[in-house]
Amino acid sequence: MLQPAEMRPIVVGAFEQLATEVPTELDVPIVEGTLPPSLRGVLLRNGPGRSSRGGVKYGHPFDGDGFLQRLELRDGRARYRARFVRTREFEAEEAAGRLLYRGFGTNRPGGFLPNALRMRFKNAANTSVVQHAGHTLALWEGGMPHRFDPNTLETFGRFSYGGALEAKGLFQRIIGPELPFSAHPSICPETGELWNFGTAYGARHKLLIHTVSPTGTLTTRALPMRELPFVHDMALTRRFAVFVLPATTFDVPATLLGIRSPVDSIDMRRAPGKAVLVPRDGGPPIELPVPPGFVFHWSGAWEDGDRVVLEGIEYPGFPKLETIGAMFDRPDAAELLARPVRLTIDLTARTVEHTLLGDLWMELPSQVGSGTDRVIVGVAAPLACRHPFLSAIARIAGDGRVVMHDLAPGFPGEPVVAGNHLLVPLYRLDAPAQIVVMAVSDLSIVARIQLPHPVPLPLHGTWLPEA
Ligand SMILES: [Fe+2]
Repeated sequence: MLQPAEMRPIVVGAFEQLATEVPTELDVPIVEGTLPPSLRGVLLRNGPGRSSRGGVKYGHPFDGDGFLQRLELRDGRARYRARFVRTREFEAEEAAGRLLYRGFGTNRPGGFLPNALRMRFKNAANTSVVQHAGHTLALWEGGMPHRFDPNTLETFGRFSYGGALEAKGLFQRIIGPELPFSAHPSICPETGELWNFGTAYGARHKLLIHTVSPTGTLTTRALPMRELPFVHDMALTRRFAVFVLPATTFDVPATLLGIRSPVDSIDMRRAPGKAVLVPRDGGPPIELPVPPGFVFHWSGAWEDGDRVVLEGIEYPGFPKLETIGAMFDRPDAAELLARPVRLTIDLTARTVEHTLLGDLWMELPSQVGSGTDRVIVGVAAPLACRHPFLSAIARIAGDGRVVMHDLAPGFPGEPVVAGNHLLVPLYRLDAPAQIVVMAVSDLSIVARIQLPHPVPLPLHGTWLPEA
């Protein structure tokens, strides 16, 4: 593990690197090892491709325009292409050469006046990718998805599921014309349904729960909420869509009046949150208090009799924007260090058991396999490393055994599961990025694929195995 001072320029580079497009498919070299013949398919990744516009730095590292990367693996060869998502806002800001819109964590320059009552936010389309019902979508949690061609990466435009994601009612259309469709949907392996959600503020705040049939029909159920929750991910089990809502508050006037950006208007009390289990068959939700803590990402969830089990990565509280901004000055801020946990919700006893999983910091988790054979993988660091620049990939086995592989001086992003392998993006300072192919079994490096350019670290991706 490198020291924070050594990691700092690498991490700054990973966030601030400006992406350049590769519109025509290129053969890219395997610079170490060989690609296993079984690894056949397409890796699609999404993430912020720029950190500033017209000399103005975005207020949040995740406000950059969506940048899609496509890596096709077949017959031991790798082919690559990369393009920005052509959102309306991207096209307008490209033409103007300056920042025109507010973002999730960014206000327009000039104080509150240029932001007051401006509820048209940039849809950054920059967080993840999903393919379902014949559509390939770039996702962002605050608005509609964007549909794109999974081969050419050409953007087709905002995708409303036939108008179902367009806000209804004059007031709602003014304060938020498009319904949110989060970047972390879950697809049921048994029914083929896609479940997703969004949080909408208004006269009455709502948690919107979307279900998309395997043929692409979207229906939405709205749960009224007293406080507007901040929730980034959901879990899906055989019977329930599960939401763990932290004790966050949202200062609506501060956002409406342009005093603060939306993310800067979120605060969190050190208080229990609540688990909301929404029956998939339409019954009334079940609510239970959960211990204080904040989870961005769940790695998996399942049912064990009358118990619902969730595993994910927990922070002690919501990492405030100012904490993220100060990350490089005080990287040991406890709010930025997160640990893998398990929540066991007993529906009969109405209790929630909280268990730490392994002695490590972790983020961007995925589950491989299921049941007692399951493994959690993610970016990680040992507990002794008290800074959030997680430079290793870790694997937690079902029996709790942890294996870690440090990739410093590279800075790794989310490992995407591709069968028995992980595809790990690796940012390298002043060098082209790589995709590192690792074996799930022991995290050994099977191959390194060199991309034609340095690229900022993507957020989330998906593997589409060859049919
Ligand atoms: Fe995420």
